[in-house]
Amino acid sequence: MEVVIVPDAQAGGELIAEALAALLRRRPDALLGVATGSTPLPVYRALAARVRAGTADVSHARIAQLDEYVGLPADHPESYRSVLAREVLEPLGIGMDAFLGPDGTAADVPGACAAYDRALAAAGGVDLQLLGIGTDGHIGFNEPCSSLASRTRIKTLTEQTRIDNARFFDGDVTQVPHHVITQGIGTILEARHLVLLATGEGKADAVAATVEGPVAAVCPASALQLHPHATVVVDEAAASKLKLADYFRHTWADKPEWQGI
Ligand code: F6R
Repeated sequence: MEVVIVPDAQAGGELIAEALAALLRRRPDALLGVATGSTPLPVYRALAARVRAGTADVSHARIAQLDEYVGLPADHPESYRSVLAREVLEPLGIGMDAFLGPDGTAADVPGACAAYDRALAAAGGVDLQLLGIGTDGHIGFNEPCSSLASRTRIKTLTEQTRIDNARFFDGDVTQVPHHVITQGIGTILEARHLVLLATGEGKADAVAATVEGPVAAVCPASALQLHPHATVVVDEAAASKLKLADYFRHTWADKPEWQGI
């Protein structure tokens, strides 16, 4: 796993946007796996700026959703489909015809989950999956003790995750759904490149457990250690509990620029 320590969230956004632009130069119709939440927003803004400047071409790009609340209507402003339409698709000028996501309103939830895994495979698999991380180490909505081999399925959110996400629901935790559909950890590990972005001191413990702890279902993000091409991009605050921070800093400083992440 490669760990890149950047000065701040903005720098992390620029670094990952550049990696996305480079991927799209190699593979114009790349399938980009995107996360919601606050952390990836600098990535989406930096990529949109590159599109406006003509240094990134997303005209053939395809977008795949990581997770979705169960039971929120698709047009609810906080359904992840709506959030991604607002934060990713519209700013990048990508249409819904290039979007893949699970149906959080399906009557047959297991059927919708299996259909989503099939759709990802039929689309050729995710080329680059962008991930955030929960304070409890979740990726997607694979909460602690999720099977490291799990496929897309329904999960129950922890109370802490619902409290963390209440800020998107007028601060009212009772409005945050209890259930979600999430790509499983096994599904996520099938993406060709995993890029996890973590910013802020609140993520420092989860980042240390992910990078330097054992591979263990109690910290779902530690599954990234099993992936041949996983990049963890952290700001100084999120890196503050890494024992090997100096090693990661000088490894990155000495890396040839053409390699990218
Ligand atoms: C959301 C997702 C979650 C978030 C995580 C961190 O699609 O996959 O794993 O990435 O809860 O959320 P923020 O970035 O809001 O701290």
